[in-house]
Amino acid sequence: MSELERKQDGAPVPADWTYASAPESRDIVQIAERYGHFVGGEWLEPTETYETIAPRDEEPLAAVGHGTEADVGKAVAAARAAYADGWSSLPGSERAKYLFRIARLLQERAREFAVLESLNGGKPIKESRDVDVPLAAAHFFYYAGWADKLEYAFPNRRPRPVGVAGQIIPWNFPLLMLAWKVAPALACGNTVVLKPAETTPLSALLFADVLRQAELPPGVVNIVTGDGRTGAAIVESEDVDKIAFTGSTEVGKEIQRRLAGTGKRLTLELGGKAANIVFDDAALDQAVEGIVNGIYFNQGHVCCAGSRLFVQESIYEPLVAKLERRLSTLRVGDPLDKNTDVGAINSAAQLEKIRELVASGVEEGARIYQPPCVLPEKGYWFVPTVFTNVAQSYRIAQEEIFGPVLSVLTFRTPEEALEKANNTPYGLSAGVWTEKGSRILWMAQRLRAGVVWANTYNRFDPSSPFGGYKESGFGREGGLHGLGPYLEFDE
Ligand code: NAI
Ligand code: MG
Repeated sequence: MSELERKQDGAPVPADWTYASAPESRDIVQIAERYGHFVGGEWLEPTETYETIAPRDEEPLAAVGHGTEADVGKAVAAARAAYADGWSSLPGSERAKYLFRIARLLQERAREFAVLESLNGGKPIKESRDVDVPLAAAHFFYYAGWADKLEYAFPNRRPRPVGVAGQIIPWNFPLLMLAWKVAPALACGNTVVLKPAETTPLSALLFADVLRQAELPPGVVNIVTGDGRTGAAIVESEDVDKIAFTGSTEVGKEIQRRLAGTGKRLTLELGGKAANIVFDDAALDQAVEGIVNGIYFNQGHVCCAGSRLFVQESIYEPLVAKLERRLSTLRVGDPLDKNTDVGAINSAAQLEKIRELVASGVEEGARIYQPPCVLPEKGYWFVPTVFTNVAQSYRIAQEEIFGPVLSVLTFRTPEEALEKANNTPYGLSAGVWTEKGSRILWMAQRLRAGVVWANTYNRFDPSSPFGGYKESGFGREGGLHGLGPYLEFDE
């Protein structure tokens, strides 16, 4: 910007429009050297630990407990005791007070949570600051409002809590997925054992401090960290009444197999391969923004990402040209920089998966476009990528990549768009871009997807239910629908 101040002959326009760095300070978060499990309102010393890192530079952040079967057993016992000792019989209006407190504390400590989320998970600070943390608080506010109105939500059905909920969450939206699970469970009078994903435990552990501040009775929420083995111990625990899982379809199927015949309740929110469909009457510039938001938001680590773009043939060339131009303006880099659009890939394993699938796309014959981009030397990074010339049979058109990689396909008629869009084992979300309201409704009725966005993408609201069809899972989170899985009814 110093160019501006210099006396120039021509107009005072900077020679170079690159952004100066604008790093958010990380001093606002205090990370302990070592964390235990949060059980019965206290820190349980772990028997095993592992190191959690920052994906932007592989810096070690803290030693975190690796929950054993015994640790899980203690957490479940604490949850059961808290359930029986009064939480389940507390008037809804009293439960609501705790939830409102938690929501307000999340707002008060929003900056701290945003920095920690970006540091531990790699997502851009502008997303954790403007999306993850405010939406997490909004979920607690929303479900706080239902806690004393369950009889009105389900008239004449006498709702009561299910019991102890085991909740296993992924690494792409750590705090937000915690809120999606914990808020409705508590609003309905259940107690919780929550396991964050192994690569992103820190915001859940900071959340334990929010629970302390909110004076939530001990044992109502217990947090056990660890990997899939810890998750499996929660699933297998005899005294858990309900499992809520968000993650891969593979693990979701495994959990469903294990629970078959046990009578335990289950909701699964799994993968996706969403179609984002652009008709030739759509506003192209807005559509391009929606496409970019649909697939490059959170590095594409989004179950409802618009990873298959279907473009009507007549606008294919101008749209792809606009899209590629827009891609070259995306800023990839430090998640803590406020100007960053695309942050770090969450883990070495996820980066490996993305690389492997992208290589398969090139090998199968798709055309790859990646804008010129200087990536940081340390850490896990992947350049935003667009594939054209994609056939429906290619792996990049079939499998969830969970990275910043878009596959572009074409169609001629609405019927063809619909048939291709539904040609997937998944069914979580879809997008439709057109000026015609009647076409939006026609498409939305026929798309086999839990959420259909029209002329927008990746919009979330706590009052709106979210969930899938087919291999994307079952059960809904959010809204009135999100209460059902946490309630039993005397009928
Ligand atoms: P994952 O399904 O293995 O992990 C999700 C959560 O489940 C983590 O907390 C993990 O510790 C836990 N877990 C793993 N194995 C378990 C088991 N046997 N029993 C109980 N809990 C278990 O997902 P992963 O390996 O991190 O990612 C693999 C792929 O899954 C990604 O590339 C992506 O395609 C998909 N995925 C989808 C997500 C979504 O939001 N729907 C979230 C994360 C991953
Ligand atoms: Mg896994």
